[in-house]
Amino acid sequence: MTKSESLERKTEHSTKESRPVRQAHDGVRELTPREIVKELDKYIIGQHEAKKAVAIALRNRWRRQQVLGQLREEIMPNNIILIGPTGVGKTEIARRLAKLSNAPFIKVEASKFTEVGYVGRDVESMIRDLMETAVVMVRNEKTAEVQEKARNHALERVLDILIPPVRRTPVNDSMTTTADTNDAELNEKTRERFREKIAAGELNNRIIEIDVPTDQFPAMQVFGPMNLEDMGVNIQDMLSNIMPKKMKKRKLPVEEALLLLTQEEAQKMIDQDAVVKEAIRRVENSGIVFLDEIDKIAGARGAVGGPDVSREGVQRDLLPIVEGSSVATKYGTVKTDYILFIASGAFHVSKPSDLIPELQGRFPIRVELKSLSEDDFVKILTIPQNALIKLYIALLKSDGISIEFSDDAIRTIARTAAEVNEQVENIGARRLHTIMNSLLDEVLFDAPDNISQTRVSVSKEMVETKLETIVKNRDLSKYIL
Ligand SMILES: Nc1ncnc2c1ncn2[C@@H]1O[C@H](COP(=O)(O)OP(=O)(O)OP(=O)(O)O)[C@@H](O)[C@H]1O
Ligand SMILES: [Mg+2]
Repeated sequence: MTKSESLERKTEHSTKESRPVRQAHDGVRELTPREIVKELDKYIIGQHEAKKAVAIALRNRWRRQQVLGQLREEIMPNNIILIGPTGVGKTEIARRLAKLSNAPFIKVEASKFTEVGYVGRDVESMIRDLMETAVVMVRNEKTAEVQEKARNHALERVLDILIPPVRRTPVNDSMTTTADTNDAELNEKTRERFREKIAAGELNNRIIEIDVPTDQFPAMQVFGPMNLEDMGVNIQDMLSNIMPKKMKKRKLPVEEALLLLTQEEAQKMIDQDAVVKEAIRRVENSGIVFLDEIDKIAGARGAVGGPDVSREGVQRDLLPIVEGSSVATKYGTVKTDYILFIASGAFHVSKPSDLIPELQGRFPIRVELKSLSEDDFVKILTIPQNALIKLYIALLKSDGISIEFSDDAIRTIARTAAEVNEQVENIGARRLHTIMNSLLDEVLFDAPDNISQTRVSVSKEMVETKLETIVKNRDLSKYIL
C-alpha cells in the first residue's frame, strides 16, 4: 500500500469517525423552550411573555418534524405578532433568535416592500433570501464534513508542486528497472518528509505557484423589463456555469495555497444538487421569517392616494405567502405553507386592527411587550453580555483608560432615562444610548491625549451635575437626550 493510499484510508476512516457530528447536526439537539428563554435572557431583560411565545414557536418547528405521516401535514405554524412600544426589545429578540435557531432564519423589514408593479422589492424576495441563507447553511455544513479529506487532497497537490512525482516509464511491468523503483521510493520518502514539514507548519511561508480559477466575470448589468434578480434568475451564475473556468497562475505562501486548494477540493466533493435539495427541505419545513416593522404597512384602511397607496397592496401580496403558496427561486420552487412568520411592530400610530382582516387572521398569537421601567434600565445597563456599561468600559480600555461606575451612578442614569422617557417621549432603552453618550462625551473626546488620569470613576454626583441641567430644561432635553 502506498503512502497516499494509506492516507486515503485514514481519511475514509476519520470521516466515519466524524459521522456522529453530522448526525448531531441533522438532529442537532434543539433547545427546549426553557433553554431558549434562558439564552434570550442573556441579552434581553424582561419581556418574558414574548420570549415564551417565540420559544414555543421555535420548539414546535422541531416537534412537528417528529410527527409522522399525514398528521404532520396538518400541523400549521402559529404565526406570532409581537406588539410593543419602540425600543423595548422586539428587534433585539429577533436578532438573538436568529443565532439560536438551527433553522434557516431571516429578518426583513416589512416597510421595504412595495406592491408588485411599484418600485422596490416585492414580498416574494424574502422567500428567495431565506432560500439563499439555507443554501449557505447547508453548504457550510457539507463543507465541514469533507474538510479533512479535502485538506488531504490539497496537501497532495501542494506536494506535487514541491516534489513532482516521478513518472514511471509506461512500458510493460517487467521492463520496470530497479533504478525506476529506487527513484520512486526515494521520491516517496522525500514527499513523506515534506508532508510532515507542512503539517508542522515549517513551510508555511515558502512561496509556490498554483493555478487558481480567475474571479468570475466582470459584473454585468442586464437591463430588461423586470429585475431579473427579483425573478430569482442570476445571469452571472448561469454564464459562469456555461463558460469554462479560466485559470490563472498565482504565487502564494504554502499556508494560503493550502487553504485555497482545500476550498476548491471541498467544492468538488460536495454534491451541489443534494445541497439545494436539502436547503429546500429545510426552508419548507423549518424556515422562519421575522417580519419587522409590520405596523409600517398598516395604514388607515380605505385611504386613497398618498404614501398609503401601496401599503394595503403589500399586505395583499403577503397573504398568499403567509397562507402558503409556491415561490419561484433560482434553486427551484419553494412552498411556503409551513414557514413560520413572526411579525413585530410598535403600532403606536396604527393598530393591529388596521391590518386587513385576512392578514390579522394569519397571525393568531399576539404578545405584548411592556414599557421598560427604571429597574429594567439598571439591569439593561449592566447585565446583558452587550450591556452599555460593559461596552463603554471596553471602548475606553482601547485608549488605556479604565472607567468604572458606582452603583448609585448607574441607578441615577437609569432614573434619568426613565424620567426623560416619561416627560419627553418614550423611546425605551434607546434613551440609555443617548444619555450615556451625553454623560461620557467629555471623556470620549479627551482620551487619550488630553486626559491626565488613566482611571475615571463615575459617581452619582458626576452623573447628576452632568445631566441635571439638561433634564430640568425640557426644551433642551428634547434635543440632546
Ligand atoms: N428588554 C431589553 N433588554 C435589553 N436591551 C434592550 C431591551 N429593549 C431594548 N434594548 C436595547 O435597546 C435598543 C433598541 O431595541 P430594539 O431594537 O429591540 O427596539 P424595538 O422594540 O425593535 O423598537 P422599534 O419598534 O423602534 O423597532 C437595542 O440596542 C437593545 O439592545
Ligand atoms: Mg425594531
